[in-house]
Amino acid sequence: MSFKALWITEKPDGKIERSIVQRELGDLPAGEVLIKIKYSSLNYKDALSATGNKGITKKYPHTPGIDAAGVVEMSRDATFAADEEVIITGFDLGMNTHGGFAEYIRVPVAWVCPKPRTLTLRECMIIGTAGLTAATALYKMEALGQHPGMGPIVVTGSTGGVGSIAVALLAKAGYEVIAVTGKATASDYLKHLGATRVEPREFLDDNSGKALLKSKWAGAIDTIGGHCLNVLLKACNREGTIVTTGIVASHALTTTLYPFILNGVSLIGVGSAEMPMKNRLLIWKKLEEEWNIKEKLPAIVKEITLEELSANFIESILEGKNMGRVVIKM
Ligand SMILES: NC(=O)c1ccc[n+]([C@@H]2O[C@H](COP(=O)([O-])OP(=O)(O)OC[C@H]3O[C@@H](n4cnc5c(N)ncnc54)[C@H](OP(=O)(O)O)[C@@H]3O)[C@@H](O)[C@H]2O)c1
Repeated sequence: MSFKALWITEKPDGKIERSIVQRELGDLPAGEVLIKIKYSSLNYKDALSATGNKGITKKYPHTPGIDAAGVVEMSRDATFAADEEVIITGFDLGMNTHGGFAEYIRVPVAWVCPKPRTLTLRECMIIGTAGLTAATALYKMEALGQHPGMGPIVVTGSTGGVGSIAVALLAKAGYEVIAVTGKATASDYLKHLGATRVEPREFLDDNSGKALLKSKWAGAIDTIGGHCLNVLLKACNREGTIVTTGIVASHALTTTLYPFILNGVSLIGVGSAEMPMKNRLLIWKKLEEEWNIKEKLPAIVKEITLEELSANFIESILEGKNMGRVVIKM
């Protein structure tokens, strides 16, 4: 049986090309669960994979797509039955295992997560890896004692996938949110998601050379890295937590130990791809209950086809032009 897939190939001269092709089910990798995909979503990592980044995908041809939501077509493991609705985010999907930008995937049973009961497959993909990351960031902050009474939380890259969901979640959890963005026209969008203040990227500029700055926030969810992360640490209130989730500007961090040893600031990370299944289930439960942001999802999502994804959206996310979450309907 054949199915449609986005197909990234590498030419002998190293040039990366993409097309939409028909593939055979028999060519999918081994795995216990065959899934018919209903929705997928676009994450920053997918754009890297689709443009030949060998740090993400070592071998081409390849189908990217680190997120997928659909229906079990066939399972060789009793954990899942045919017709059950499931989601897969991360692990090796879309990296070196053919991913969710296709009508079918076959994956190991250990990667398959039952669909949260009160969310639809589409809602799960609006949240996707980006939302799981943002929610895990908040969960980890609160595990270290962060609470709304400590003061505002900064979200960087706030109109992006992780950023948009982080703003909505923090607001839902009762935090004052300072949304930092490079998009001059995004203020209404970010305020609708729950931001109390919207600031330009220059808000996080600092050339003072000082190791510590007057405290301005109680914590942050950062998707940017580099200089911005250093400033977030330097101006964080005592005992606040900064969560690093992304590296869109830089994977480097130059800082001092003063925020940690004088102000008791914590710097923690989220790596959602390899998160154990029990943690995922716990975070999805929170997203169904106290962190339920269903009412904000329509503003966050743009739904497109596989053809539109290939034509327009991959370069746009790499250029930092993305707003919210892009969901692909198969
Ligand atoms: N740790 C994990 O498990 C995990 C999971 C998902 C994603 N990530 C990482 O998180 C980052 C964001 O992913 P995403 O899916 O949210 O991407 P995204 O939708 O493209 O969002 C990134 C946002 O960052 C801002 N930005 C872009 N380039 C910038 C630059 N040079 N300097 C400052 N800001 C810039 C833009 O927002 P504004 O215009 O609003 O500033 C952009 O929309 C990526 O590095 C991704 O790999 C990590």
